[in-house]
Amino acid sequence: MHSDFPATLLLLLWSAAVSALTSVSPYTGVSIFKPPSSYIVPRTLYARTVLLPQDGTDQNVLLATWENYSPEPPLTWTPFSNVMDTQNGWGMRYQPFLYELTEAIGAFPAGTILCAGNSIPTNLSNTQIDVYASLNKGRTWQFVSHVAAGGLAEPTNGDTPVWEPFIMTFNHQIVIYYSDQRDPLHGQKLVHQVTSDLRTWGAVVDDVAYDAFAARPGMTTIALLPNGQYIITYEYCNSPQGGCVVTYRLASSPLTFNAAAPGTFLVATTGEVPTSSPNVAWTPTGGANGTIIVSANSHTGVFVNKALGAAGGWTYVQTNATRSYAREVRVLPTTSQIMLTGGGSLGGTTNAVTGTILQL
Ligand SMILES: *[C@@H]1O[C@H](CO)[C@@H](O)[C@H](O)[C@H]1NC(C)=O
Ligand SMILES: *[C@@H]1O[C@H](CO)[C@@H](O)[C@H](O)[C@H]1NC(C)=O
Ligand SMILES: *[C@@H]1O[C@H](CO)[C@@H](O)[C@H](O)[C@H]1NC(C)=O
Repeated sequence: MHSDFPATLLLLLWSAAVSALTSVSPYTGVSIFKPPSSYIVPRTLYARTVLLPQDGTDQNVLLATWENYSPEPPLTWTPFSNVMDTQNGWGMRYQPFLYELTEAIGAFPAGTILCAGNSIPTNLSNTQIDVYASLNKGRTWQFVSHVAAGGLAEPTNGDTPVWEPFIMTFNHQIVIYYSDQRDPLHGQKLVHQVTSDLRTWGAVVDDVAYDAFAARPGMTTIALLPNGQYIITYEYCNSPQGGCVVTYRLASSPLTFNAAAPGTFLVATTGEVPTSSPNVAWTPTGGANGTIIVSANSHTGVFVNKALGAAGGWTYVQTNATRSYAREVRVLPTTSQIMLTGGGSLGGTTNAVTGTILQL
């Protein structure tokens, strides 16, 4: 996580069909959004997508969102739709996440698109993870619920923000994962909350909380493996190794990562050590175990594992994508094409949003 200038979350329909992707040669990267120079540095950051296959309408449409640093006050420019804060008067600024419901949850039918994000005022005094829903494939949005309220949006131990929501379905419920600095025993820890109706959320449950107060595990993403195990990847800042080394755990339930082994540092067989803002996905391509793919801020390439996450099974694979903070890994319907969507670097001054295909 980071703290920078305010931004709003901007949602864009990138491509009408995945089949169109190949015709625009995204193997070397395509521009999704190039902001004008009037934008506030870093202009864009932290991109996310959702692929819409669930209910037969809008088949294979990709929606993309990112932190959008337009000139203040937040604008209403609408290439497709904006996810506007209608509750706090602060704007939806940081860390967007898109998710399509795979089954009905409460009053929301399968195919509903959720957008979670961090609502933060211009002076950064508060953080609020809120969930919005779209019943028409991202064209319009309605507020659904507040999930977690935190303090000042600064990544300093002792401050009390919440950050970086990630949503998945488990056992006919929706789980939201996020980074939490509110516990006085932990500079930052990873937690989740569960809901059956998207309106009310259960207790805050730890996923990764190290004994050392200074430790800052952050930026949960999770993938389901074919052996029924779940892999959680996160950055482990202030780790004994130093830096924000990418770390992962495996568990048979995505609700019990805190009881799983304390975490494995990800190291490639050729020695590369990924650091900062990882993102994980799994694809059935690549043999009996399929392939786990992990991106990190430190590398243009990705880290792949065809051994269900075995510690010695990580290889480094070069890509044509540029490095990006919190770059997303998405498996496309062919399952052998992996889309890397980036919003640019932390500290970048001319960031743009790009999508690049990796052919496995
Ligand atoms: C920060 O902004 C919020 C929302 O506009 C406001 O309520 C609060 O008073 C401000 N805090 C400071 C310290 O200026
Ligand atoms: C699948 O993963 C297991 C566990 O790591 C490993 O023993 C096996 O060799 C892998 N199979 C293939 C086909 O890579
Ligand atoms: C990089 O782009 C080139 C040219 O389009 C393509 O041939 C190659 O397969 C791409 N590499 C990867 C790893 O996707």
